[in-house]
Amino acid sequence: MTKTDDPKPHPRQPALQRRLVDAYEVTIRPDPAEAPLAATLARDLRHAATTEQEPPQTQAPGLVTSRLPALLDAMPASPLADTLRPLAQTLDWYQIYDATHVDPALAGGLMAGQVIGSRGILHSRDLYMGLFLLAPHVTYPLHQHAALEIYHVLAGEIYIRHGRAKLSMHIGAGGHSITPPHQVHELRTGNDACLIAYVWTGDLTGENWWWEPQDDGSWDRVCWQRQLDSSWSATRREPLCEAEILRAGDR
Ligand SMILES: [Fe+2]
Repeated sequence: MTKTDDPKPHPRQPALQRRLVDAYEVTIRPDPAEAPLAATLARDLRHAATTEQEPPQTQAPGLVTSRLPALLDAMPASPLADTLRPLAQTLDWYQIYDATHVDPALAGGLMAGQVIGSRGILHSRDLYMGLFLLAPHVTYPLHQHAALEIYHVLAGEIYIRHGRAKLSMHIGAGGHSITPPHQVHELRTGNDACLIAYVWTGDLTGENWWWEPQDDGSWDRVCWQRQLDSSWSATRREPLCEAEILRAGDR
Protein backbone atom coordinates (compact mmCIF):
# COMPACT_ATOMS: atom_id res chain seq x y z
CA MET A 1 0.00 0.00 0.00
CA THR A 2 1.41 3.40 -0.88
CA LYS A 3 1.39 6.69 0.95
CA THR A 4 -1.22 7.83 -1.53
CA ASP A 5 -3.95 5.34 -0.71
CA ASP A 6 -3.20 4.45 2.89
CA PRO A 7 -6.10 5.94 4.91
CA LYS A 8 -4.41 5.57 8.30
CA PRO A 9 -1.50 7.61 9.64
CA HIS A 10 1.37 5.78 11.30
CA PRO A 11 0.32 4.65 14.81
CA ARG A 12 3.41 6.21 16.40
CA GLN A 13 2.94 9.53 14.69
CA PRO A 14 3.61 12.45 17.06
CA ALA A 15 0.48 13.97 18.61
CA LEU A 16 1.57 17.40 17.39
CA GLN A 17 1.39 16.24 13.78
CA ARG A 18 -2.14 14.94 14.27
CA ARG A 19 -3.17 18.23 15.87
CA LEU A 20 -1.64 20.19 12.99
CA VAL A 21 -3.43 18.14 10.36
CA ASP A 22 -6.77 18.29 12.13
CA ALA A 23 -6.39 22.05 12.51
CA TYR A 24 -5.29 22.45 8.90
CA GLU A 25 -8.29 20.55 7.58
CA VAL A 26 -10.86 22.65 9.41
CA THR A 27 -9.08 25.96 8.79
CA ILE A 28 -8.28 25.74 5.07
CA ARG A 29 -11.43 26.10 3.01
CA PRO A 30 -10.47 25.52 -0.64
CA ASP A 31 -12.77 26.47 -3.47
CA PRO A 32 -13.90 23.55 -5.67
CA ALA A 33 -11.26 24.18 -8.35
CA GLU A 34 -8.37 23.81 -5.91
CA ALA A 35 -9.91 21.07 -3.74
CA PRO A 36 -7.77 18.24 -5.23
CA LEU A 37 -4.51 20.10 -4.52
CA ALA A 38 -5.70 21.07 -1.03
CA ALA A 39 -6.57 17.42 -0.39
CA THR A 40 -3.08 16.35 -1.53
CA LEU A 41 -1.52 18.83 0.89
CA ALA A 42 -3.66 17.57 3.78
CA ARG A 43 -3.02 13.93 2.93
CA ASP A 44 0.74 14.44 2.74
CA LEU A 45 0.73 16.41 5.98
CA ARG A 46 -1.12 13.55 7.66
CA HIS A 47 1.16 10.83 6.29
CA ALA A 48 4.60 12.44 6.42
CA ALA A 49 7.03 10.35 8.43
CA THR A 50 8.23 12.51 11.31
CA THR A 51 10.17 12.16 14.52
CA GLU A 52 10.30 14.62 17.38
CA GLN A 53 13.56 16.49 17.82
CA GLU A 54 14.82 19.32 19.98
CA PRO A 55 15.41 22.42 17.84
CA PRO A 56 18.74 24.15 18.50
CA GLN A 57 18.52 27.17 20.78
CA THR A 58 19.85 29.76 18.34
CA GLN A 59 19.28 33.49 18.50
CA ALA A 60 16.34 34.40 16.26
CA PRO A 61 17.10 36.96 13.51
CA GLY A 62 16.33 40.57 14.40
CA LEU A 63 13.38 40.75 12.02
CA VAL A 64 11.75 37.87 13.87
CA THR A 65 12.33 39.23 17.37
CA SER A 66 11.08 42.67 16.32
CA ARG A 67 8.02 41.61 14.29
CA LEU A 68 6.82 38.21 15.43
CA PRO A 69 5.20 39.19 18.76
CA ALA A 70 2.93 41.79 17.15
CA LEU A 71 2.06 39.45 14.29
CA LEU A 72 1.09 36.71 16.76
CA ASP A 73 -1.05 39.21 18.69
CA ALA A 74 -2.76 40.26 15.46
CA MET A 75 -3.52 36.70 14.30
CA PRO A 76 -7.25 36.07 14.08
CA ALA A 77 -8.21 32.93 15.97
CA SER A 78 -8.52 29.75 13.96
CA PRO A 79 -7.73 26.12 14.77
CA LEU A 80 -4.50 26.35 12.77
CA ALA A 81 -3.47 29.73 14.23
CA ASP A 82 -4.23 28.50 17.73
CA THR A 83 -2.10 25.38 17.19
CA LEU A 84 0.84 27.33 15.77
CA ARG A 85 0.77 30.30 18.19
CA PRO A 86 2.45 28.55 21.15
CA LEU A 87 5.10 27.04 18.86
CA ALA A 88 6.07 30.17 16.97
CA GLN A 89 8.62 31.60 19.39
CA THR A 90 10.28 28.21 19.98
CA LEU A 91 11.19 27.55 16.33
CA ASP A 92 14.70 27.62 14.90
CA TRP A 93 14.12 30.76 12.80
CA TYR A 94 16.57 31.39 9.96
CA GLN A 95 17.15 33.65 6.96
CA ILE A 96 16.06 31.70 3.88
CA TYR A 97 18.38 33.25 1.27
CA ASP A 98 21.98 34.21 1.65
CA ALA A 99 22.79 37.77 0.57
CA THR A 100 25.47 36.90 -1.99
CA HIS A 101 23.16 37.13 -4.97
CA VAL A 102 20.34 39.43 -3.85
CA ASP A 103 19.84 42.78 -2.23
CA PRO A 104 20.56 42.32 1.49
CA ALA A 105 17.28 44.09 2.28
CA LEU A 106 15.43 41.36 0.39
CA ALA A 107 17.49 38.50 1.81
CA GLY A 108 17.06 39.93 5.30
CA GLY A 109 13.32 40.28 4.78
CA LEU A 110 12.48 36.60 4.30
CA MET A 111 12.63 34.39 7.42
CA ALA A 112 11.34 30.90 8.06
CA GLY A 113 10.80 28.68 11.07
CA GLN A 114 10.14 25.04 10.33
CA VAL A 115 7.63 23.08 12.39
CA ILE A 116 8.16 20.02 10.17
CA GLY A 117 11.38 19.60 8.20
CA SER A 118 15.08 19.00 8.64
CA ARG A 119 15.32 21.71 11.31
CA GLY A 120 11.77 21.54 12.63
CA ILE A 121 10.27 20.44 15.92
CA LEU A 122 9.25 17.38 13.91
CA HIS A 123 12.10 16.11 11.75
CA SER A 124 11.02 14.92 8.31
CA ARG A 125 12.41 14.36 4.84
CA ASP A 126 8.90 13.97 3.37
CA LEU A 127 7.50 17.46 3.69
CA TYR A 128 8.15 20.96 4.98
CA MET A 129 5.64 22.84 7.09
CA GLY A 130 6.18 25.97 9.11
CA LEU A 131 6.00 29.73 9.44
CA PHE A 132 7.23 32.27 6.94
CA LEU A 133 7.73 35.89 8.02
CA LEU A 134 8.12 38.62 5.41
CA ALA A 135 9.23 42.17 6.18
CA PRO A 136 7.20 45.16 4.89
CA HIS A 137 7.90 46.34 1.34
CA VAL A 138 9.50 43.10 0.18
CA THR A 139 9.05 41.51 -3.23
CA TYR A 140 10.01 37.84 -3.33
CA PRO A 141 10.56 37.72 -7.09
CA LEU A 142 8.98 35.37 -9.61
CA HIS A 143 10.19 31.86 -8.88
CA GLN A 144 9.24 28.25 -9.49
CA HIS A 145 9.89 24.89 -7.87
CA ALA A 146 8.75 21.32 -8.31
CA ALA A 147 7.05 21.18 -4.92
CA LEU A 148 3.34 21.81 -4.38
CA GLU A 149 2.93 24.72 -1.98
CA ILE A 150 0.26 26.45 0.07
CA TYR A 151 0.56 29.81 1.78
CA HIS A 152 -2.07 30.48 4.45
CA VAL A 153 -1.90 34.04 5.74
CA LEU A 154 -2.01 34.12 9.55
CA ALA A 155 -1.48 37.86 10.06
CA GLY A 156 -0.93 40.84 7.80
CA GLU A 157 -1.53 40.65 4.08
CA ILE A 158 0.27 39.58 0.93
CA TYR A 159 -0.05 40.07 -2.82
CA ILE A 160 0.70 37.04 -4.96
CA ARG A 161 0.73 36.65 -8.72
CA HIS A 162 1.04 33.50 -10.79
CA GLY A 163 2.83 34.73 -13.92
CA ARG A 164 4.47 37.75 -15.50
CA ALA A 165 1.30 38.96 -17.17
CA LYS A 166 -1.03 38.16 -14.27
CA LEU A 167 -2.53 40.59 -11.81
CA SER A 168 -1.64 40.15 -8.16
CA MET A 169 -4.20 38.59 -5.85
CA HIS A 170 -4.61 40.16 -2.43
CA ILE A 171 -4.70 37.67 0.44
CA GLY A 172 -5.53 38.85 3.92
CA ALA A 173 -5.45 37.02 7.22
CA GLY A 174 -7.37 33.76 6.96
CA GLY A 175 -6.93 33.51 3.19
CA HIS A 176 -4.65 31.22 1.26
CA SER A 177 -3.01 30.59 -2.10
CA ILE A 178 -2.10 27.20 -3.52
CA THR A 179 0.75 27.06 -6.05
CA PRO A 180 0.90 23.93 -8.23
CA PRO A 181 4.29 22.32 -9.04
CA HIS A 182 6.47 24.44 -11.39
CA GLN A 183 3.95 27.33 -11.46
CA VAL A 184 5.88 30.61 -11.45
CA HIS A 185 4.81 32.94 -8.62
CA GLU A 186 5.77 36.17 -6.86
CA LEU A 187 5.01 37.46 -3.35
CA ARG A 188 4.88 41.08 -2.33
CA THR A 189 4.18 42.76 0.99
CA GLY A 190 2.81 46.25 1.52
CA ASN A 191 3.28 48.55 4.51
CA ASP A 192 3.07 45.75 7.05
CA ALA A 193 4.95 42.57 7.81
CA CYS A 194 3.17 39.31 7.04
CA LEU A 195 3.10 35.95 8.81
CA ILE A 196 2.26 32.90 6.74
CA ALA A 197 1.83 29.18 7.44
CA TYR A 198 3.26 27.18 4.56
CA VAL A 199 3.33 23.55 3.46
CA TRP A 200 5.73 22.23 0.80
CA THR A 201 5.17 18.71 -0.46
CA GLY A 202 5.50 16.38 -3.44
CA ASP A 203 8.73 16.68 -5.38
CA LEU A 204 11.10 18.20 -2.83
CA THR A 205 13.98 18.47 -5.31
CA GLY A 206 16.14 21.12 -3.74
CA GLU A 207 15.97 23.63 -6.58
CA ASN A 208 14.14 26.95 -6.59
CA TRP A 209 14.41 28.91 -9.84
CA TRP A 210 14.13 32.70 -9.81
CA TRP A 211 13.19 34.44 -13.02
CA GLU A 212 15.23 37.53 -13.82
CA PRO A 213 14.67 40.08 -16.60
CA GLN A 214 17.84 40.96 -18.50
CA ASP A 215 18.89 44.32 -19.93
CA ASP A 216 18.29 43.12 -23.52
CA GLY A 217 14.65 42.21 -22.78
CA SER A 218 15.27 38.47 -22.45
CA TRP A 219 14.84 36.51 -19.21
CA ASP A 220 17.19 34.20 -17.32
CA ARG A 221 16.33 31.84 -14.54
CA VAL A 222 18.70 31.42 -11.62
CA CYS A 223 18.90 28.18 -9.65
CA TRP A 224 18.97 28.37 -5.88
CA GLN A 225 19.84 25.07 -4.25
CA ARG A 226 18.73 24.02 -0.81
CA GLN A 227 21.67 23.67 1.57
CA LEU A 228 22.00 21.22 4.47
CA ASP A 229 20.70 23.90 6.83
CA SER A 230 17.61 24.40 4.58
CA SER A 231 18.72 27.85 3.40
CA TRP A 232 19.07 28.54 -0.34
CA SER A 233 22.27 29.37 -2.22
CA ALA A 234 22.47 30.55 -5.86
CA THR A 235 24.40 28.08 -8.01
CA ARG A 236 23.83 28.65 -11.75
CA ARG A 237 21.75 30.46 -14.36
CA GLU A 238 20.33 29.64 -17.77
CA PRO A 239 18.21 31.41 -20.38
CA LEU A 240 14.48 31.03 -19.76
CA CYS A 241 13.27 28.72 -22.54
CA GLU A 242 9.84 28.44 -24.10
CA ALA A 243 9.21 24.96 -22.71
CA GLU A 244 9.83 26.20 -19.17
CA ILE A 245 7.58 29.21 -19.69
CA LEU A 246 4.76 26.87 -20.70
CA ARG A 247 5.40 24.46 -17.83
CA ALA A 248 5.39 27.43 -15.43
CA GLY A 249 1.86 28.47 -16.43
CA ASP A 250 3.16 31.80 -17.69
CA ARG A 251 0.94 32.04 -20.75
FE1 LIG B 1 7.06 29.10 -3.70
